[in-house]
Amino acid sequence: MRKITAKELREMWISFFEEKKHKNIGSASLIPENDATVLFTIAGMHPLVPYLLGEPHPQGKRLCNVQKCIRTNDIDEVGDNTHLTFFEMLGNWSLGDYFKEEMIPWSFEFLTSPKYLGIPVENLAVTVFEGDEISPRDTESAELWEKAGMPKDQIFYLPKSDNWWALSGGVGPCGPDTEMFYVKPQPKCSPNCNPSCDCGKYVEIWNDVFMQFKVDEPNGPVTELKQKNVDTGMGLERVLCLMNGIESVYETELFKPAIELMERLSGKSYNDEAYRRSFRIICDHIRCATMILGDKNGIKPSNVGQGYILRRLIRRALNYARQLDLKGEDLVLVSDTFVDYFKDFYTELEDNHKFIQDELHAEINKFQTTLVSGHKEFEKILAHLDGDTIDGKTAFRLYDTFGFPIELTQELAKEKGLKVDVEGYKEHFAKHQETSRQGSEHLFKGGLADTSEASARLHTATHLLLGALRSILDENIEQRGSNITPERLRFDFNFPRKLTPEELQALEDRVNQAIKNEIDVVCEQMSVDEAHKSGAIGIFDSKYGDIVKVYTIKGYSKEICGGPHAKNTRDLHHFKIVKEESSSSGIRRIKAILD
Ligand code: SER
Repeated sequence: MRKITAKELREMWISFFEEKKHKNIGSASLIPENDATVLFTIAGMHPLVPYLLGEPHPQGKRLCNVQKCIRTNDIDEVGDNTHLTFFEMLGNWSLGDYFKEEMIPWSFEFLTSPKYLGIPVENLAVTVFEGDEISPRDTESAELWEKAGMPKDQIFYLPKSDNWWALSGGVGPCGPDTEMFYVKPQPKCSPNCNPSCDCGKYVEIWNDVFMQFKVDEPNGPVTELKQKNVDTGMGLERVLCLMNGIESVYETELFKPAIELMERLSGKSYNDEAYRRSFRIICDHIRCATMILGDKNGIKPSNVGQGYILRRLIRRALNYARQLDLKGEDLVLVSDTFVDYFKDFYTELEDNHKFIQDELHAEINKFQTTLVSGHKEFEKILAHLDGDTIDGKTAFRLYDTFGFPIELTQELAKEKGLKVDVEGYKEHFAKHQETSRQGSEHLFKGGLADTSEASARLHTATHLLLGALRSILDENIEQRGSNITPERLRFDFNFPRKLTPEELQALEDRVNQAIKNEIDVVCEQMSVDEAHKSGAIGIFDSKYGDIVKVYTIKGYSKEICGGPHAKNTRDLHHFKIVKEESSSSGIRRIKAILD
């Protein structure tokens, strides 16, 4: 197979789909906007949920991009050959346009044509849905694969557990999929070995989801969508490995500058088994942290939500840095290598470079202090130790409260001739994971990429609120953040001081006046230029497309926005501000409800 760089792969993907009349919409933010149900964007389809459900997309019905994604559920697996927290997903979509007849031959072409990946057909296998009471056996896809050139014995029918795609939490668009695998030349592990086997013979590289169903509420019924969509996703890092005959994602060009720098600074070798895992964890975590900080909605480390994940990533990297004898500050230089590598593609990294560096420095300094307390705590534990083993609960407390990975505790114990009850630690760890899993399921409860009517109404209320802020307080006020659940809105904006009770009342009154006037919420599509001229506010940077949607509430608001919204202001009933507070320096936050 031909060797390929990440840059070539990204460009090849985009040009393949542009030739097939797709619009490149660029990567959406890693931090979802107007969506409190997930912490980070987990797939290319995630920001597109409203459009998969039927909202018209301003760029049309055929879209493609390279999407920045983060998934942290497997954070403890990071360090092996394949797991990453941040990754890039190559994606394309049909929003009620083409379906299987087009997508399957295209997939075959992209995978096998020498102009594109050029993978020999004998190295490929595909799976299709075997069918159930909701969706029939997908013989149609199997036939299309065969017609395209895939030998029959390389096509496998698998059940729902393998060939059905839905968002975790189960709410949102979903459907059967066909998955494509690279087949490694190793022998079958058993006569029954097929792409669902995890022996390593079959490596999944691409997934075409035929999204024609949806689920509206947790455990709700599966119903037909009004349009048949295609949603595909290919993992860039994995394909890069396969094409270049590389075993581990960490050995691709993506991490090369970072690893070389760390080797120079530490005097240790990545090839040394004793250190390889630490190298990899630092690479993954600092890359992910750099992407979060450098995002257009970039946030700072904190103790809640995304900020907490960011903090954990940085602190975990710091602990592993210690094992390589790297200084905390060295991690800022590691981060610089990622900014340098990615800045041409994700230009926001360059714009936010100083913020990334400043926040990393600040967090590193804060954590040095915690580490010192952790070491003090360790000394205390030693002083009270009965026997020669640190128990699992204590080891877990060191991990949970002071950020000591188990390896660090083991290493410190070893220095003192002591043992650690690793099994006991793992039990506590598993219990904790179970609790946080339940926590995140709770988070999904509102419905992923929530498009409920309650949220749409609050979204419209947000537009009215911004309009009111600009007309009552200052016409230079802009949105600095928005987070909506079906229960409330939370809106951040620039303003230098606390609002008075009179001002809050005036804001409420103005929004309620708009509601009383029963105004239609009108959506129009136009070029960015026209939007600008028409006096719409919102984000005018639309590097990737010229047509935008403008939502107008006559007399009160005109904003560029993706929607969805209420149809008429009367649907909002009554608007009430429940809190006004400082969000950060120069930024105020309003929480409000509709009752
Ligand atoms: N949604 C599918 C996935 O995440 C394809 O984009 O794999």
